[in-house]
Amino acid sequence: MSQKIIVTGGAGYIGSHTCVALIESGFDVVVFDNLSNSQIDSLDGVARITGTRPEFINVDCTDITALRSAFATHRDAVGVIHFAAFKAVGESVSNPLLYYRNNLGGLINVLDLMREFDVPNIVFSSSATVYGVPEKLPVTEQTPLQPATSPYGATKVMGENIIRDTVRAYPQISATLLRYFNPIGAHPSAEIGELPNGIPNNLMPYITQTAAGIREYLNVFGDDYDTPDGFCVRDYIDINDLARAHVAALRHMLSGATGVGVFNLGTGQGTSVMELIDAFRDATGVDLPYRIAPRRAGDVPAIWANCDLASRVLNWRAVVPLNETLASAWRWQKHVSGIK
Ligand code: UFG
Repeated sequence: MSQKIIVTGGAGYIGSHTCVALIESGFDVVVFDNLSNSQIDSLDGVARITGTRPEFINVDCTDITALRSAFATHRDAVGVIHFAAFKAVGESVSNPLLYYRNNLGGLINVLDLMREFDVPNIVFSSSATVYGVPEKLPVTEQTPLQPATSPYGATKVMGENIIRDTVRAYPQISATLLRYFNPIGAHPSAEIGELPNGIPNNLMPYITQTAAGIREYLNVFGDDYDTPDGFCVRDYIDINDLARAHVAALRHMLSGATGVGVFNLGTGQGTSVMELIDAFRDATGVDLPYRIAPRRAGDVPAIWANCDLASRVLNWRAVVPLNETLASAWRWQKHVSGIK
């Protein structure tokens, strides 16, 4: 019998790709999602890729009563991957209570029910945002954390601490905190991908929407940073590589790792905004219209990951080359926009 994993937020961007990776690795997947920032169609995409449609329960993780009945039905699960959360930095500044209630309220309910129903393992979506503006690059898991610069970031730092305290008090629960750098791209089949609501906040969907003619030009936020070419530097990781890391983290816990594991998930490679625009042109043949715009408030000048720990402990590393990732992002955008 295959082992069952609950995936909260499984209909979302990272969640749906992780469903694919889990099913391809032989797990039985149940998605808990309230579809507040995702589409049920993504599970049809998962089904077309894998031949298996994950079971779906429409449930809001902040609703403890509804979440309890979902857990009760799936008390045989061996783990939870908890993606369900809001993620727009700017929105979190204007509506902090929404972020604290959703991101932390949901997490607390999930942990409470894991305890109640003896579900032993959790993988938590954390973020490179916990490192703030790092003093030394690349960042390792030992790099000191900085005070959060947005309520969104605060929910990730606090989420990590809530999990640490919970595991300390209830050592029957094991946890893995995955600190994502910048996930981009789509499944190579273009059956699933990122579907932002409205004007994208993040660079990659803004690039592909500009390439598709939905946006007139890309605003490049700042060209005078203290970086080699003056543009911000990030660690862009392929979404399929990121998804596979969740499977590796679960396997590690299922084979006996206890306590709290913390891993950076990136490529180990920094890429500037302008390098990404150039690489997108090379990968797709689309020359992107862009304008240099003022710096965006709160942007970190440069951050990329040292991922040696994940490589050593989880036997995971990012393998998809950037040009393939960019090609998949564009293939997905063309699919969504009906471009041949
Ligand atoms: N950028 C542009 N133009 C755009 C959008 C972004 O030039 O239209 C630039 C940004 O200034 C930044 C880079 O592209 O230099 C990447 O920006 P993203 O918004 O795609 O990603 P961030 O690194 O800012 O954000 C990510 C995650 C957040 C997380 C944050 C901090 O998306 O969830 O890292 O770690 F909080």
